[in-house]
This record gives sequence, C-alpha cells and structure tokens, in this order.
Amino acid sequence: TTIYVPCDTTALSLGADRVVQKLQQAADQKNIELHLIRNGSRGLFWLEPLVEVQTPYGRVAYGPVEPEQVDELVSAGLFDGNPEHPLFLGDISQHSYLQQQQRLTFARIGITDPICIEDYIAHGGFAGLKKAAALTTQGIVDEVKVSGLRGRGGAAFPAGIKWQTVLDEPQNQQKYVVCNADEGDSGTFADRLVMECDPYMLIEGMTIAGLAVGATLGFIYVRSEYLLSQKMLDEAIRRAEVLGYLGDNVCGNGRSFRLEVRLGAGAYICGEETSLLESLEGKRGLVRSKPPLPAIKGLFGQPTVVNNVLSLAAVPYIMAHGGKAYADYGMGRSLGTLPIQLAGNIKHGGLIELAFGASLRKVLEDFGGGTFTGRPMRAVQVGGPLMAYLPESQWDTPMDYEAFAKLGAGIGHGGVVAFDDTVDMGEQARFAMEFCAAESCGKCTPCRIGSVRGVEVIDRIRAGEHRDNNLILLQELCETMVDGSLCAMGGMTPFPVQSVMKHFPEDLMASSRPVE
Ligand code: NAI
Ligand code: SF4
Repeated sequence: TTIYVPCDTTALSLGADRVVQKLQQAADQKNIELHLIRNGSRGLFWLEPLVEVQTPYGRVAYGPVEPEQVDELVSAGLFDGNPEHPLFLGDISQHSYLQQQQRLTFARIGITDPICIEDYIAHGGFAGLKKAAALTTQGIVDEVKVSGLRGRGGAAFPAGIKWQTVLDEPQNQQKYVVCNADEGDSGTFADRLVMECDPYMLIEGMTIAGLAVGATLGFIYVRSEYLLSQKMLDEAIRRAEVLGYLGDNVCGNGRSFRLEVRLGAGAYICGEETSLLESLEGKRGLVRSKPPLPAIKGLFGQPTVVNNVLSLAAVPYIMAHGGKAYADYGMGRSLGTLPIQLAGNIKHGGLIELAFGASLRKVLEDFGGGTFTGRPMRAVQVGGPLMAYLPESQWDTPMDYEAFAKLGAGIGHGGVVAFDDTVDMGEQARFAMEFCAAESCGKCTPCRIGSVRGVEVIDRIRAGEHRDNNLILLQELCETMVDGSLCAMGGMTPFPVQSVMKHFPEDLMASSRPVE
C-alpha cells in the first residue's frame, strides 16, 4: 500500500511524524507492506496532517488526521481508501480550494516527493533549464522580460530588467546570483513551502538566472529558523550536481554554475538586500546606501542578481512554457500569478496561488471562509508588518500592485493576515513602531530614534495626554520616517500606523478596546 504523509514544517508541527509512526505500527500488525512517501503539503493547512492513499482509482485523502485517530482509521479501511469515514476527502486535487487556483509555480507541491529528483523530472522538472541551456544569455533574459515577472519579495521590480543590468556588466568579472530566502514578513510561508516541498524548482530557477547573466556561483540565504529548508536544499543540490544540472557543465552546455546554502543569523533586517549581502560577507547586517545597486556592485562588490525565492521559483515555468504563457495570467502591469499566504484569524489558512486581479474579498471569503473564531472580520494586513491595515471598505480591491499602491497599501510578499472584531488597532499601530525599534539596523536616525519616539507618542495619545498635539506630532513623525529613512524598514513602518489613524481612529484614541 502506498501512503503519502507530508514532511514539511506545517505538517510536522501538527503531528505528521507521529501519524507516520502509528501507520507503520498498524501496517506491521496487519502484515501489510507499507510504501511511505513523504510528500510536501498541498497548502490546505487546516486539513494537515493530510494522509493520502494510493488506490486503483487514484489518490484519496483523509484529513486532518490526529495520531490518535490512526488505529480507528485503519480499522475503518484507510489502507483500501474506504470512503465511509468522516475524515475521507476523496481526490484532494478536486477540492474547490485547489480547483479555483491557478497553480503555475506550486503545480507540483504536495504531489511529489520533494527530494526525489526523478519525481521532479517526471513532473516537468528541469524542462526550463534544458531550454535555457540551449539559448544565448540575452535570449534567456528576453524570455523573462516577456513574462512580465516582477520581484515577488515585495518591491515588484521587473526581474528581466534587473537581470539585464547584471548581464550588461562586463563579462570578465565574477558575478553572483543570491536568493533571498530570509522570509520574515508576518504570515508568510511561501518561500519555506518552495524550499521544503519543491527545492529543485528553486535550484532550477537560480541556475537559469546564473546562465542568463553569466554568474558561476549562487548563494541561498535562508532564514535561521528554516533548518529543514537548509537540509532539503543541501541534499537537493548534492543530487542535482550528480546528475549534471549543477556543476562545471550545466546540462552539457559547457557553462558552470554552483550553489551554496547559508543560514542567516535571525535578524529581520537581513531580508533587506544590501543588509543580506553584508551578512553573507560575514559582517553585521547593516544596510548599505544605494546606489550602487547590487546589480552593479553587490556581493563582494561584484555584479549580483538578488531575487526572492518566489521570483526565482517562477522562472522554470516561464522558460519551459514561454514568457508569453506566463504573461497571459494577471491584469495590468501585474502579470502572472501571486502565491498568496492566508493566515491570522482565518478558518481556512493556506497557500493560494492566483492570477493577479482576484479581489481580496474572494481570498478572505471564498478561500478563507471567514474568521477562525467565527466573529466578524474587522481588519486585514496584506504584505507584511510594514504595510497598511485594510478596513472592509477596501476588500473589493483587486490583488494588483498598482491598485494596492493607490490605496497607500501594498501586496508585498503576498502575506494576508486577518483579524476579527476583538482586535485593538491602537495596539497594532503601537506594535508597528515597537517592531521597528527592535529590528532597526540603527544606521539612520529617522528609523532608529523615530520608532522609539513613535511608541512613546502613541502611548501618550492612548493615555489621553495632549491628544490633538500628539496626533499632529505622530503624523509629522510618520512623514519624517517615510521621507528620511534609508531603507524600507524605517520608510514603511509608518504605513500601518497611518492606516490606523485613518481607518480606525477610535481605537487609537482609547486606552484599550473593550471586548464584548
Ligand atoms: P527597491 O524598490 O529599492 O528595489 C527593488 C529591487 O530592484 C532591488 O533588488 C533593487 O536592487 C532593484 N533595482 C532597483 N532599481 C534598479 C535598476 N534600475 N536596475 C536594476 N535593479 C534595480 O525595494 P527594496 O528596498 O529592495 O524592497 C522593499 C520591499 O521589500 C518592500 O516593498 C516590502 O514589501 C518588501 N519586504 C519584504 C519582506 C519579505 O520578507 N519578503 C520583508 C520586508 C520588506
Ligand atoms: Fe537601518 Fe532603519 Fe535606516 Fe533601514 S531605515 S537603514 S533599518 S536604521
């Protein structure tokens, strides 16, 4: 009997390993030979651990399976895929949560064994790299330009233009590709899912980037908490080298590209690209002034492509199917798909890859199913801790970079965090400043000092001290931080604060929010 149980951090934290143990014990008792495959999560987190059984009619799922339920499930015919059980879900790929998505990047996730390179290849893996290996460097960059891919780390800068900048630097010097896997935004986990559940896709995307710009070495900077990602990547890199997808002769085209994984040291600011480069060089994660851009003087002063995991993970699809096929999805200047990570107080949290253009309300209601607590939803933060809080009046906005920018909000890395009506938005505003004070690299004054003063001013407003004057002061402080900070940390921290001042002023004025 073939059984699939996910091995990613989400499933593990919900007891997947104990489910596996119990399944093995039950199979031993029944003298059944168990073929266990540790796949990745399909991203329907409320159903994890999701156990799938291979039957003559395809894979059928049960979930969420608690370790304590395994014996009873086995007695009820789990090994035969018996549908007569409340946890039976049938063919999970037909679930409306997945059916309504456009999974281009996450097409394989949850289906394959992440570390099995043959499985990756059988599901279309390395087709993009093989095509790229037969193209000129400019040919690869042009395909990425046609796709319209913009940086999925949050800033949405066109990836093709960034690659062109690095390609245009003289070829006789060392160039690098650096993957920013320091996923730090609240409620985000898409980078982790890629690394834990489909690591070859990232390796393939980085290798294509290396061939495109003439880089021979790449580094994946993984956030310190993601030890499983590091382990998966190290093993996947080793296997890809053995089969010639990395190394001195990538896909037999005579060009060389190697990859190394580095673990971060646990600072949010090391997700900022120049601070990340400092950290990779072994120094403290202090932000550098730009210019020079990393594309021109990046790692060790050399031309460097710095892209987020999701940007690089989108590239194999683009190369395999053509930039145009990717650009057929989306709206306006936001082309392709966005891996949305739905979290916070939400009933059905998980990974939702959608073409740009779907409304935020669709994500929250059709996918999310409302709040986990069942109470009315009151606020949503999209794009991480440095982005605005959106009140219900803004939830019909399409998920599109420009539409969100018009609201003074942003899509960032695609994290969506929901709050119910018990949330104290005054506390959330204070938290933004407090977070900045804790995470600031300290290089510039508006951020280092401004965030500390911000907490104090909010405390005075909430205590009712000279409220009118302090509100003006808070507004001016926010403007100073936006205009005067060196990087997005200090420059964007005011956005959540200003959104609370605008949309939830009653919470800011009260010392605390009474909960019914
Ligand atoms: P940015 O707008 O300064 O730069 C975006 C990217 O484009 C950078 O890689 C930059 O080097 C490159 N670039 C800009 N002009 C270029 C040119 N002419 N040629 C070639 N390359 C060029 O934004 P930044 O500071 O890199 O990122 C800010 C964003 O980071 C925010 O919008 C926020 O959403 C996001 N963020 C993401 C986090 C995460 O965990 N994923 C955490 C915190 C912030
Ligand atoms: Fe450092 Fe903050 Fe200035 Fe960014 S804004 S350089 S994190 S002090």
